[in-house]
Amino acid sequence: MGSPVITFLLLFFANLLVLGASSAQDHNQHFLQCLTDQFERSNSDPSNVVNSPKNASYASLLQAQNLRPESTSPLRPLLIITPFHEHEIQAVIYCSKKLGTQIRVRSGGHDYEGLSYTSEIPFIILDMRNFRSISVNTKDKTAWVEVGTTLGQLYYTIARHSRTLAFTAGVCPTVGIGGHISGGGYGMMSRKHSIAADHIIDAKVMNADGHIVDRRSMGEDLFWAIRGGGGTSFGVVLAFKLELITVPKTVTVFNVSRTLEQNATHLVHRWQYIADKIDDNLLLRLFLRSIRSPVHGNRTIQASFTSLYLGRVHDLLPIMQEKFPELGLVEEDCIEMSWIESILYFAGLRNESLDILLSRTPAGIFGSNYFKGKSDYVRQPIPVSGLRGIWRFLHEEAENRAELQFSPYGGALSTYSEFETPFAHRAGNIFMIHYGVSWTRPGNSELERHMNWIRRLYSYMARYVSKNPRAAYFNYRDLDLGMNNEGNTSYAQASVWGLKYFGNNFNRLVRVKTKVDPSNFFRNEQSVPPLYS
Ligand SMILES: Cc1cc2nc3c(=O)[nH]c(=O)nc-3n(C[C@H](O)[C@H](O)[C@H](O)COP(=O)(O)OP(=O)(O)OC[C@H]3O[C@@H](n4cnc5c(N)ncnc54)[C@H](O)[C@@H]3O)c2cc1C
Ligand SMILES: *[C@@H]1O[C@H](CO)[C@@H](O)[C@H](O)[C@H]1NC(C)=O
Ligand SMILES: *[C@@H]1O[C@H](CO)[C@@H](O)[C@H](O)[C@H]1NC(C)=O
Ligand SMILES: *[C@@H]1O[C@H](CO)[C@@H](O)[C@H](O)[C@H]1NC(C)=O
Ligand SMILES: *[C@@H]1O[C@H](CO)[C@@H](O)[C@H](O)[C@H]1NC(C)=O
Ligand SMILES: *[C@@H]1O[C@H](CO)[C@@H](O)[C@H](O)[C@H]1NC(C)=O
Ligand SMILES: *[C@@H]1O[C@H](CO)[C@@H](O)[C@H](O)[C@H]1NC(C)=O
Repeated sequence: MGSPVITFLLLFFANLLVLGASSAQDHNQHFLQCLTDQFERSNSDPSNVVNSPKNASYASLLQAQNLRPESTSPLRPLLIITPFHEHEIQAVIYCSKKLGTQIRVRSGGHDYEGLSYTSEIPFIILDMRNFRSISVNTKDKTAWVEVGTTLGQLYYTIARHSRTLAFTAGVCPTVGIGGHISGGGYGMMSRKHSIAADHIIDAKVMNADGHIVDRRSMGEDLFWAIRGGGGTSFGVVLAFKLELITVPKTVTVFNVSRTLEQNATHLVHRWQYIADKIDDNLLLRLFLRSIRSPVHGNRTIQASFTSLYLGRVHDLLPIMQEKFPELGLVEEDCIEMSWIESILYFAGLRNESLDILLSRTPAGIFGSNYFKGKSDYVRQPIPVSGLRGIWRFLHEEAENRAELQFSPYGGALSTYSEFETPFAHRAGNIFMIHYGVSWTRPGNSELERHMNWIRRLYSYMARYVSKNPRAAYFNYRDLDLGMNNEGNTSYAQASVWGLKYFGNNFNRLVRVKTKVDPSNFFRNEQSVPPLYS
């Protein structure tokens, strides 16, 4: 280490680091000062709202559902703001604009790439967790729900009002309303009732000027954009008004698994000809994993048909007998319960009390790990040879939690035109594939191994899935599809991922963005860019 050149370089870099740190600190001070001034002007108390790295609350607020994004992103937020009141958000927007600080809005924090809590440039988190009031109107069958609410909290609250009112959205109870509903929201009732975004009837949004607009004052263009185009690019969504749906008092669930030795390959292949066409009240979701066979101890594939029927078992059995007798479903496989109990069932929280739906901490099958996900849409059944190729990939990741989900489309999803909302995945899609892999050991070599695996699988699947564009589901955010570079949010670059998520709706999203946020204040690696004239 005697070399003067190395010593010089070390000193040079040490200086840079110090400079970097102190300017970040200055920035932080300026931001804090700005916020304090703004809060004072509105007689607001910052003490419960502003969390700096010095506060104990900061570390617990940083805890993420997916550990991967933070593990590859060196920056931590300058501050985490947890507002209770709208004017506190106005203050954050004002100071962010004034000081050029990037903000990341977080509702439930389940973004697959962590875009709500990581950034490559200095940023603050606007965490909406305290915006969580819900008001249910059983007469109108509507509910106003603030964005920091979780799906579990929403479902729980609706169920307390009525056994036959419900909402159609995702399966994981800790997912947040803000990201989920603005980005789509597929769940176990989507063949009967479509996605969550199709049931938004009003919204409150704070725009880049700090003004609060509702459906009437925001105009139909912006109101269209936030029903599937995501909130991120357009403003801070504060609340949605939802149209509730009606469900029978009793629904039926089953989760029937078959291994390769029990004809799984044939059953999965057949499923592709049935799943999107069967009775809309029935959603047969398919989970595929590699397991060690309980019979012979070698690896095999387990296909689980995890299903919800909106009705009684005696009506379900004849449907299955007629359309999918190969599965061999019998009454003993089925359980009748209320809709809200089925929420626990599909979350793997079978023996818990309903109160667990109020918790914001992921539990059951959704505990926190390192995770990477991707998605595809299938318009032609995958041949048996293609399925066998998938089995080989699943065996490669055998010791880890690798899983494919096939989520059927058709039914109500196809009754909307491709342009009605930004969610373009309508008629013609048989099912959506979700690829997921999670692991528990930290470190780069683990990360690279699993990322490499899922990317190879994705490239293998190209021949079997939608093309030109190869469609993807926005809520299963995937930065492999492309991203904006800071300072270059060109249309050409963004359209690479934009057309995959939104089809031809992407161009309308760009026009809405250009109108409502021409300075591109609300942005991230995959936000819709404005067109510069
Ligand atoms: C375990 C798990 C299970 C899932 N299950 C399903 C499922 O069954 N069905 C399904 O469709 N999806 C599912 N998803 C995907 C989920 O819908 C998305 O990750 C969704 O974006 C999460 O919303 P959030 O508010 O929790 O996330 P966040 O990370 O808080 O936000 C996601 C994105 O939306 C932006 N955003 C958040 N709040 C606001 C706001 N108020 N205003 C403006 N922009 C905002 C964020 O900046 C970020 O870009 C699942 C995800 C996970 C991790
Ligand atoms: C953070 O620490 C400051 C200074 O000690 C304190 O005034 C403030 O109340 C704390 N904020 C929170 C959210 O606890
Ligand atoms: C598996 O499926 C094939 C093709 O339909 C069928 O001939 C065979 O009997 C099935 N085997 C079992 C064990 O169900
Ligand atoms: C299990 O795997 C071993 C080793 O590959 C093989 O010899 C054996 O035949 C397999 N058993 C079954 C039942 O497939
Ligand atoms: C369905 O069964 C499989 C296999 O036993 C299991 O791994 C999975 O967790 C079950 N799914 C639900 C929702 O219970
Ligand atoms: C739930 O409870 C029942 C009866 O108490 C028990 O048989 C079953 O194994 C439990 N299931 C789980 C998933 O814990
Ligand atoms: C921005 O990205 C596009 C597409 O990758 C590229 O063609 C263009 O040259 C870039 N512009 C700048 C200023 O870097």
